[in-house]
Amino acid sequence: MSESKTYKRTLITTALPYANGPVHIGHLAGVYVPADVYARFLRLNGRDVVMIGGSDEHGVPITIKAKAEGVTPQDIVDRYHKIIKDSFEELGISFDIYSRTTTQLHNDTASEFFKRLYDKGEFVEKTSMQLYDEKANQFLADRYVTGECPHCHNPRAYGDQCEACGTSLNATDLINPTSAITGNTPVLRETKHWYLPLDKWEPRLREWILNGHKEWKTNVYGQCQSWLDMGLQPRAVSRDLDWGVPVPVEGADGKVLYVWFDAPIGYISNTKELLPDSWQTWWKDPETRIINFIGKDNIVFHCIVFPAMMMAYGDGFQLPDNVPANEFLNLEGDKISTSGNWAVWLHEYLRDFPDKQDVLRYVLMANAPETKDNDFTWKDFQTRNNSELVAILGNFVNRAIVLTHKYFEGKVPAKGTLTTIDSELIEEVKSLKNEISERIETFHFRDALKKVMDIARAGNKYLQETEPWKLAKTDMPRVATILNVAINLCANLCVAMEPFMPFTASKLAQMLHLDKMTWDEIGDFDLIEQNIQLGEPALLFEKIEDDVVEAQIAKLQEAKKDNLLKKWKPDPQQTDVDFDTFMKSDLRVGTVLECERIPKADKLLRFLIDDGLEKRTIVSGIATYYNPDDLVGKQICFIANLPPRKLRGVESRGMILSAQDADGRLVLITPSEPVKPGCQIK
Ligand code: MF3
Ligand code: ZN
Repeated sequence: MSESKTYKRTLITTALPYANGPVHIGHLAGVYVPADVYARFLRLNGRDVVMIGGSDEHGVPITIKAKAEGVTPQDIVDRYHKIIKDSFEELGISFDIYSRTTTQLHNDTASEFFKRLYDKGEFVEKTSMQLYDEKANQFLADRYVTGECPHCHNPRAYGDQCEACGTSLNATDLINPTSAITGNTPVLRETKHWYLPLDKWEPRLREWILNGHKEWKTNVYGQCQSWLDMGLQPRAVSRDLDWGVPVPVEGADGKVLYVWFDAPIGYISNTKELLPDSWQTWWKDPETRIINFIGKDNIVFHCIVFPAMMMAYGDGFQLPDNVPANEFLNLEGDKISTSGNWAVWLHEYLRDFPDKQDVLRYVLMANAPETKDNDFTWKDFQTRNNSELVAILGNFVNRAIVLTHKYFEGKVPAKGTLTTIDSELIEEVKSLKNEISERIETFHFRDALKKVMDIARAGNKYLQETEPWKLAKTDMPRVATILNVAINLCANLCVAMEPFMPFTASKLAQMLHLDKMTWDEIGDFDLIEQNIQLGEPALLFEKIEDDVVEAQIAKLQEAKKDNLLKKWKPDPQQTDVDFDTFMKSDLRVGTVLECERIPKADKLLRFLIDDGLEKRTIVSGIATYYNPDDLVGKQICFIANLPPRKLRGVESRGMILSAQDADGRLVLITPSEPVKPGCQIK
């Protein structure tokens, strides 16, 4: 390992995903695939590793979802825990345990953790005023309150955030708050909570991170620095809610631990569940190296809050040695959203692309959001499959095995004397091996994967330059050497790809009769001995056609539309206008004489209208929704007495009326029967 200190064992944790929905490619690229690559790499190196996962089953969003569906929170988490767990397994994420935070063991562990901090006097108790729904007899979590935003006056802001202006809010800031449970106006009521004084731990946190961990990724280090520089405040670790781990002290009825207090303790509970006898070694021995894989929205909890909890707990708990948080993966240019149904869901991918786990793993790692947000597009997915996995990796392995079948009936021939080109290839693989190791050890998985592919690239180049198919007529001993080297290169490649593409690696290992793989074998060109009978050359990857990715894009668009329609509500009514003002608007029907697109303005159509009196030009922004030719002869409604306006150089006299549907689509308003052009709308 590159660290000056060598550790006896590595505890890998992966952020516990909320069980309020399935996991999507954003979760995978940010957390689970990199963690799995790392774990597999360490195991190939013979390291002692455990990889901990589990579902995060508490918190308000789960209760909201349950309420909306008329089921219990337990029903919701049972449903998604199963989907998540099964889909991770199918993708080959090699957890040593994948458990959940609704187990008794977790409840007891989190409860004991709180109790110890409470008994040690590590909390401060504070009372505050919170919104209370007298009809539902409960305090309202911020998400359960809606009202008017005090900043932008959006009438439908949530108690924790206004989605219109992006400001984060407290429910008590809202103007005219309404309970999302009963629709009642909530009242303010006093409530008591326990706070962890993070300020107390600030000097130690500063020293530990800012001095002790300068090697952390810059996005992580930078976020920690800015939190520390802003000054840490006490944080409430309890909530008024009936879903969670009950606060284990007297006088705390109706209160549970804040989800961000209990969830990270889930790492500990799950280790206990896996290793009831030795879990303490994995958490308390300084010879254990703890690595937390998370997404960037989790940085403060893993680098500040949870470490402060552990410092307060004491008893030898080790802090993480690294927290390689990733940035976000977007999807086709938009932020991935579980509630907005803008995602590629893992369980659906696995159903739509059976036996293509490694393609997804490859694409997500080749495009991993390690230093900045990245975008997943289906076109890129297709390109990477077709021109990288098929054309480079699959192609090399296939050529090597097919040629061995062609010239040696599939029996690996013996090597003769190596020439320069052979030795250079072997040297190149050895140095790639070191570069790959170095990249993985420092969490640069994208670069590491590129170098794995460089091994296959080197293989293609080698066959291209040595041209064994030409030598076959004149120099069979040389062909034997070339193919022996090529087959051994396949075996090297097989080991190197295993952390990234374990399914393909095991398929290839089977063809090569390569049993147990170890990282050390990379660079060894006597790995596959002569006379070994190779299996039939099965294709490792297959081309993905246009219609397949187009269907995925169409599915996304459909999901987005459905979701908009489901969520849509009419805008509140506008303030009244007086009758006389309204009567001054001159609304009429006209017949479309001509209609055409305006060059270089993709939204605009130019209409020529027979308005009964004359021909009138009107420009309208509906070009996205209509084909101009289809509109000629149609009747439309328009406002006649607006001042003329120039749009893209065309003077428009009036405005055509259309209705805007929930998805933004504009639909022309037209009389239900033909009428004379120019007649007024009354
Ligand atoms: N459920 C959280 C999220 O998805 C992550 C929890 S990580 C843990 O953002 F450390 F709290 F478990
Ligand atoms: Zn606002």
